[in-house]
Amino acid sequence: MVVYQVYPRSFADSGGDGLGDLAGITARLDHLAWLGVDALWLSPINPSPMADGGYDVADYRGVDPSFGTVEDVERLACEATDRGIDLLLDIVPCHTSIEHPWFRERPELYVWSPVDGPPNNWRANFGGPAWTEDRHGRGWYLHSFYPEQPDLDWRNPEVARELAAVLSFWRGKGVAGFRLDALQQLLKDPELRDDPPATRPRLLAGETDYETLEHVHSSDQPGVEEPLRALRRGAGADAFLVGEIGLPCDRHGPYLGPLDASFCFELFFSAWEAEALAAGIRAGLATGKPAWVLSNHDFPRLADRIGRENVAAAALLLLALPGPVFLFQGDELALGNGPGRPAGAAEAPPYDRAGRDPFRHPMPWTEKPPHHGFTTGAPWLDVVVPPSGSAERQREDPGSPAAHTRELIALRRGLVGPVEELSARDGVLSFRRGAVGVAVNTAERPREQPWTGSVLHRTSSRSDDLLNPGSGTFVQVV
Ligand code: GLC
Repeated sequence: MVVYQVYPRSFADSGGDGLGDLAGITARLDHLAWLGVDALWLSPINPSPMADGGYDVADYRGVDPSFGTVEDVERLACEATDRGIDLLLDIVPCHTSIEHPWFRERPELYVWSPVDGPPNNWRANFGGPAWTEDRHGRGWYLHSFYPEQPDLDWRNPEVARELAAVLSFWRGKGVAGFRLDALQQLLKDPELRDDPPATRPRLLAGETDYETLEHVHSSDQPGVEEPLRALRRGAGADAFLVGEIGLPCDRHGPYLGPLDASFCFELFFSAWEAEALAAGIRAGLATGKPAWVLSNHDFPRLADRIGRENVAAAALLLLALPGPVFLFQGDELALGNGPGRPAGAAEAPPYDRAGRDPFRHPMPWTEKPPHHGFTTGAPWLDVVVPPSGSAERQREDPGSPAAHTRELIALRRGLVGPVEELSARDGVLSFRRGAVGVAVNTAERPREQPWTGSVLHRTSSRSDDLLNPGSGTFVQVV
């Protein structure tokens, strides 16, 4: 299964307001069908003050007017399904927006301090204290992320009931599954004990005071299977559920029962080096339910993280792995980071205070300046065109990253069976899936191709038995 992640604000604008929307996505479905993906995941589309790019939801059953309407979701689901593409939505179960009516009307659904002030030393994921005083004088509430994102209390069964009903609502609109956000934050220590000082480096390490503590009490608590089972019941047995669990894979076990897959961030954050990549793959395989991903809306784009010269081989590696694989919009174009918010724009919604706008620039659809088919208005972020050109140009160029991605997605269908003979030797990462040998050269010099047989795909134009640096192959092994 290949899932294509769409960041709705930056995919395609049908209305000319400079913001991507649902009708824009529907109008560009031909691109996804051309690539051959099986599913499309939308980052949140619910009504939101956009303090966290929509991950601050003010109504789980609605659609933000900037994106369209519930009917637009139904239309998109229907048109996608007609092309053999499932629609997945992003559900944010850990917290709502501070503007959600529940926060005003049903405070018992949230986590409150039992004292008049922060009851402990917990820090928020984006830095700063995890407790904020309510502006209506009701005390101090917990927020694992921004203060505009109060945490729901998953120890209150009403929360599970409400969220399960939300999943079932969207299933009724033609949605086939969900990406579940930040699951490690669902449950906290009921005694609200202090987190001890950090002793080990974190997998998703940022640069805030969040890193100064070991989050043994503020996240990842026993009993998480129960809330996840409720979400599964709401979604239905046939829904696809992938969890974002911000923990190393060896701690995903308690979450996995009700899920189909969880993202393996070890591979995501691996250095572009054969040993490290092999370790990342092993970590994911060990869960038995890995979802593979190398980029998303939260982290620098692949071209900037591992070097543009390695992007094609990274796509080959990713698309060779068994199970669900996630591509972030623009990865197929080898799109790099953009400059972020325009000079002079305030650090206010929709711009991101955590600095993630450079990873969220709009899609360059055409060669036509100034906005390359993204919008007829003024785009919220500039449209950046990668060196290999817009989507339009790359689709016509058989040597482009987009054409490679498309060919790899097609070849992937012939890859069956588990990962075998995984090895990292001399900078070359290799493994076999059935009769297909996969190899990627992460070294700085050409290396011997480890597989003998006929080449099904190669990312460099070399025709001998050597693999160029930053290149990869699929070989039909004899
Ligand atoms: C997830 C999302 C991220 C968001 C956070 C809080 O990690 O991917 O964009 O800021 O959760 O909801």
